[in-house]
Formats: sequence, structure tokens, C-alpha cells
Amino acid sequence: MTARGAEPDEHEQYLMSDTPDKTWDGKSNEEWRKDVGDNYTLEAQTYDERRSVHLNARFFFEISYGVLDELLGDVPEGAVHVDMPVGTGRFLFHLRDKGRTHDMLGVDISPGMLKVCRDRARERNERLPVMFGDAFKLCLADNSIDVLSSLRFFHLFPVRYWDAILAEMFRVLKPGGILLVDLRNLFRFGAWGILKEFRDRWVHKDQPHGFLTPTRLGSLFADWELEKTVGVGLDGLPHLSALSPSLAHRLSRLGRYRPIKYVTKEIVIKARKPAS
Ligand SMILES: C[S@@+](CC[C@H](N)C(=O)[O-])C[C@H]1O[C@@H](n2cnc3c(N)ncnc32)[C@H](O)[C@@H]1O
Repeated sequence: MTARGAEPDEHEQYLMSDTPDKTWDGKSNEEWRKDVGDNYTLEAQTYDERRSVHLNARFFFEISYGVLDELLGDVPEGAVHVDMPVGTGRFLFHLRDKGRTHDMLGVDISPGMLKVCRDRARERNERLPVMFGDAFKLCLADNSIDVLSSLRFFHLFPVRYWDAILAEMFRVLKPGGILLVDLRNLFRFGAWGILKEFRDRWVHKDQPHGFLTPTRLGSLFADWELEKTVGVGLDGLPHLSALSPSLAHRLSRLGRYRPIKYVTKEIVIKARKPAS
């Protein structure tokens, strides 16, 4: 499957196949994806708590959700927004807290994460439908979604999977539909990042986690209109925020500019499926 609707090439057929071909870690694609979902089920009950204890994480989420809100812009009533993977629903509940009332649907491969999300919606007395689904084969019709968000997700997969995931997102979005994703920056790790990339690629002949390099942006989003990219998460700012929150917030805006955006923790991307 390709975003352009052409016949799948060999690489894509391999990615999408259900055959027990070995990929990496001695597992087939299917086994590996299932393992990822199962691992999240194991940590589902403590997922949010573990990510809110540290000042770093709290500041990061404050800044990144602020950027995401801004990039999302006005969403008309009746628009359908899918968050995939929804996890425990953090992003969608945040949007509800901000007064957003458009239709939202959460999709995830982990039954445990979906349960936490469903329970939370019940506790909050809110309607938030969730659905089991795999990013590689979304059970959503072509051209049916207005907004698709996908956060803290791509880094779980080696970069060679990213095209296939993006192609699925492209397929389900309506022409003109909006995609919001965040991708982890490789250069955030400086020299260590470069060594790690070298080790994974050429020593281990593998890539356990996917990181973005600036040169990958253009090719990844070749089929899309890339509207905005914002770097989020500059080292040191969380600690500064304990002393001066307003200065830390102001300095975090530096992530909007090159080359600083490439040394932040993540880049938040707003892309649009071309209208025609
Ligand atoms: C790091 S969590 C992010 C969850 C949420 N987006 C957030 O920001 O908190 C990664 C999520 O991806 C889900 N996941 C992993 N592989 C998936 C797949 N192939 N399709 C759909 N969801 C998947 C996991 O179950 C988990 O909930």
C-alpha cells in the first residue's frame, strides 16, 4: 500500500505481510507488533503515573500539549478526530479539558491501555469511544477522518516502518485532513546519538528505536503538505521552570527555529493530506 495508491513495492509487501519472515529480534512483524501491545498492557495501570513524577516529564508535556493545541487550531463541530495510539487517552482528555467538543475516537493495539482509557472516560462521565486497532492496518475507511493525531509512537519502530505507518494514515484521512505527530530527534543526543545510530545500523545491523534526522523529514512527508514543524523539549528548561516558569516557557519557543529545533527532544509536525 502506498500513499499514492500505486501497487505496493517489494519492501512494502514485506512490511505488510503476515508471513513468519524474520525481521529483527528473531520475530516476525506480527509477533513483534503484538509484543509491543502486550508490553503496554503490562504497564497500563501505572503508565500515566510513571510519566508524571519527574519535573522533566511534566514540563515536557505542558510545552508539547501547548504546541499541539496551537497546531490543531479550530476543529469544526462534527469533524472526526482519531488519536492513534490513544494509550490511556491523555491527549484526548487534555483536549476535552480545553473545551474541545468535536467527535473523538481512540485507537490502540493494547487491550490494557484501552481499558484504562475507557475506565477514565467512565470516571469523568464522558463519551470517548475507543477501538482496538493496528497502525499498520487501520480498520477505518479510506478518506474518512478529518484529524489524526499520533503521539509518542513512531520511536517504538525502526525507521524503515515509518513509511508504512504514514501511508495508512494518509489512506484514512480525508483530502485536506490534518495529521499531528511527534518524532524523536536523533541529534538531541549529540555525539552519543551519532554513535548510537552508527552502532545500531552498522554494528548490530538493526535499529531498535526510530529517531528523526532533519534529512528524513522531506522524504517521509513527500506526499503531504508539511505545514509546521516545532521542536519541543530543550535540556535544562525543566529545571529553570522550577525557578522561573515564565522564562522557561519563553525560552522553549526557541524550538521553533532552526537549527535549535533539531536538538530538542522531539519535533511536533503538522502535515496535511493535499486537498486534491
Ligand atoms: C508510548 S505509548 C503512547 C500512548 C499515547 N499516544 C500517549 O501519548 O500517551 C505507545 C502506545 O502505542 C500502542 N501501540 C503499539 N504498537 C501499536 C500498533 N501497531 N498499533 C496501534 N497501537 C500501537 C501501545 O499499545 C501504546 O499504547
